[in-house]
Amino acid sequence: MNAHPHQSGERLAVVHNGIIENHEALRRELEAEGYAFTSETDTEVVAHLLERESRQAGDLLTAVQRVLARLDGAYALGVIHAGEPDVVIGARKGSPLVVGVGIGEAFLGSDPLALLQVTDRFIYLEEGDAVRLSAGGRIEVFDAEGAAVEREVQTFEHGDGAASKGDYRHFMLKEIHEQPAVIAAALEGRLGDRSALVESFGPEAEALFRQARQIHIVACGTSYHAGMVARYWLERYAGIPVQVEVASEYRYRQVVVPEGTLFVTLSQSGETADTLAALRFARTGGYLASLAICNVPGSSLVRESDLSLMTQAGPEIGVASTKAFTTQLTALMLLTLALGRVRGLDEAVQAEVVTALRGLPRLVERVLELDPAIEALSMAFVEKHHALFLGRGAHFPIALEGALKLKEISYIHAEAYPAGELKHGPLALVDSDMPVISVAPNDELLDKLKSNLQEVRARGGELFVFADEGWG
Ligand code: F6R
Repeated sequence: MNAHPHQSGERLAVVHNGIIENHEALRRELEAEGYAFTSETDTEVVAHLLERESRQAGDLLTAVQRVLARLDGAYALGVIHAGEPDVVIGARKGSPLVVGVGIGEAFLGSDPLALLQVTDRFIYLEEGDAVRLSAGGRIEVFDAEGAAVEREVQTFEHGDGAASKGDYRHFMLKEIHEQPAVIAAALEGRLGDRSALVESFGPEAEALFRQARQIHIVACGTSYHAGMVARYWLERYAGIPVQVEVASEYRYRQVVVPEGTLFVTLSQSGETADTLAALRFARTGGYLASLAICNVPGSSLVRESDLSLMTQAGPEIGVASTKAFTTQLTALMLLTLALGRVRGLDEAVQAEVVTALRGLPRLVERVLELDPAIEALSMAFVEKHHALFLGRGAHFPIALEGALKLKEISYIHAEAYPAGELKHGPLALVDSDMPVISVAPNDELLDKLKSNLQEVRARGGELFVFADEGWG
């Protein structure tokens, strides 16, 4: 858990991931009783509540369970108390928490990856669970009602050095270079000679896909961008209407769900709170079925969806999503082909896309060979404070993703626009201080894009164009 511990007095400490939505009311209540706060955080509220309860309850577990009943929001907690020095209590609702099962010892973490150095056996706690770890590796799990329950111990599949950086300087670089292999893994066993295997999405997929009349895709961040790309593909190849929305908007909207709508979530982790909340809302909203495209087997999103397809990217440890994004795109092209197949997409077109997909890992390898050239280009950004990304068609969301990556990794302000929007305002920002980055594949929109880029050039903007060979 990447969280700072908070104490209440000298005897109790808590770590917390997530957000306690009613923390202000609880804080006022505690302040009225004389608790002094040293921070503005919701975590400190939890610490004081636990301290108060632990003085009345007979044991720490009971104190935690009583406090949980007062918390609204999403959380994963770890709690220790000097009065029970051999005990750690964990609890989760809305945020992930796993128990690492060792030999004579046990661990708590928000992600199994963080614990792979000490164990590869895990209990994935369910919504509302609390767990007591005691000396000697004893693990007791209690459900939301407080009843003792058994949860299955699962062996982690990617224990093969995935949590080590190898020869790379950092995990993000390692993960960028893993793309050819993981894209191949995402395709493995899911393509026939000339079409996608619809049953990769589950035994009921074919019947459900036949009934699908439209698709709603819901996700956050990079996963949302993957969904935006997929809209272009699904409409073009499968001829099915698609809406794509960020989960944090979708979940608070009065969504109108036409009959026969397939609900699709995209998520690397399968635990993103807004995406999960959107799925839970959708399950009551009259959808045909839900499909999760996800990288973490056993995650909440996968467990709670009717259908799922794993992206097979392996653990993503770098904070910025890279291989998770490209494997999501691969999975979404498989979905496009599967839906296209049941909806009568021309067989020759299906075969052509299958061949292109099989060639994809090799093409990504060739792009990665450009690493030194791209590193040299990056020097032009060192002194810049802003950047503009442009794209058209399915490459508009790619531009959005490029801008997100630059912001996250270099703290340079970046925006993305559909290139055709340039003349409607953003062009005013372009001058020799504004690098403009564009992906310009050799497709039917290339000429349009070129004329947009001319406008940038005319204003003295510095252009960085990622193009196919033969770009003029
Ligand atoms: C950006 C990034 C985030 C995630 C977003 C959704 O590099 O990693 O934008 O894409 O937080 O996370 P998942 O896909 O786990 O639902």
